Formats: sequence, structure tokens, C-alpha cells
Amino acid sequence: MKRIAIFASGTGSNAKKIVEHFAENDNIEVSLIVSNKSKAGVLNLAKTHNIPYLILNRQDFYHTENILEEFTVYPIDFIVLAGFLWLIPEYLVKAFSKRMVNIHPALLPAYGGKGMYGHHVHQAVWEAKEKVSGMTIHYVSEHYDEGNIIFQAECQLASTDSPEEIAKKVLQLEHQHYARIIEELLLKKQQP
Ligand code: GRF
Repeated sequence: MKRIAIFASGTGSNAKKIVEHFAENDNIEVSLIVSNKSKAGVLNLAKTHNIPYLILNRQDFYHTENILEEFTVYPIDFIVLAGFLWLIPEYLVKAFSKRMVNIHPALLPAYGGKGMYGHHVHQAVWEAKEKVSGMTIHYVSEHYDEGNIIFQAECQLASTDSPEEIAKKVLQLEHQHYARIIEELLLKKQQP
């Protein structure tokens, strides 16, 4: 059994897709949901599906390695960031090297980095009059949006698309691919 922890700060629509994708899977399970916000929408998902959840404390997260101990309870094999806004500290990146992925709502390396999240990304894409946008799934490093790219998918943009419409197209792509790519990565890791 491979056990996933999903980290999310917001609504958790990607987290929901992932939880639903693995709900009937005997080999892969979402075992923990982690958030930095006690009121994040994603916690309702945890409650609905009876998934244990953890609310992070900034001090603990950055100045202790307690979370690694917490993970041994399940034990967690793989971390999925799905709209998690805090930078991942080095000790966690190291402990989960090649076992932690993030999804970004643009075609990295364009429109990534600090401050490039949520509507800021789509606004920038819109201002640049891009004809194409998309999403990127990548490994997590100590820097925002810089780990090796695993998978990208594109969508065409119309000149009439508003930033909100761009966001919708991109989110649809995320929902379509994220769980599938996670599954592929986990299955690959099980091979000898
Ligand atoms: C997604 O657009 C993802 O790419 C970004 O944060 C957003 C999370 O949305 N990292 P949701 O909470 O999964 O709806």
C-alpha cells in the first residue's frame, strides 16, 4: 500500500479529484490531508471522507521536523501539493526527494515563482495576450515552482477569454490529469 498526504491551503478541488480517484484503489490511499489554514475548504473534504487531517503551525513547520515523525504513523510515502501556498522547508524536500509533487496553473518555467499563484498567474497570462496556457506537474524543490517537470498539458486561449475564463480552462486540465499522473508515478516506484 502506498500512502499519500495531500497539502492544500484552499478550496481543494484538485484534492477532491485525487481523493475520489483513489477511493476504490487497494494499492494507493490518501491517508492524510495537511493544511496551513484551519478554515480551508479542503478540511471539509477530509471530514466527508473520514481522512485524518493536520493543521500546520508555522513555527513548528519551519523550525522543527515534527511532521516527519507524524508521517511515520501512517506511514506517508508520497506528498502531493494541491494549492499549498507555503514554501516547503529543506528538511522536507530532502526527506521526500522525488516523492513530492506540485501542480502549477501555467506552463512553467513561464509564470512561476514567488507571488505567482491563483489569479495572479491568469491575470499575467491574460495581460501578455498569450494564445496558449496550461498546467505543469513537477517535483518539489526548495524554490517555488523550480523542480523538474514531470508533465504539462496545454489549452488554447481565445482573444476574448477573460482571466477568469483562462483559470477555468486551466483548472479543468488540472482535474483531468493530476490524479492519473500521481498514480503513474506511484506505480512506477513499485517496480523493481
Ligand atoms: C490550482 O490552480 C493549482 O494549480 C494551484 O492552486 C490551485 C488549487 O486549486 N497550485 P484547488 O484548491 O485545487 O481548487
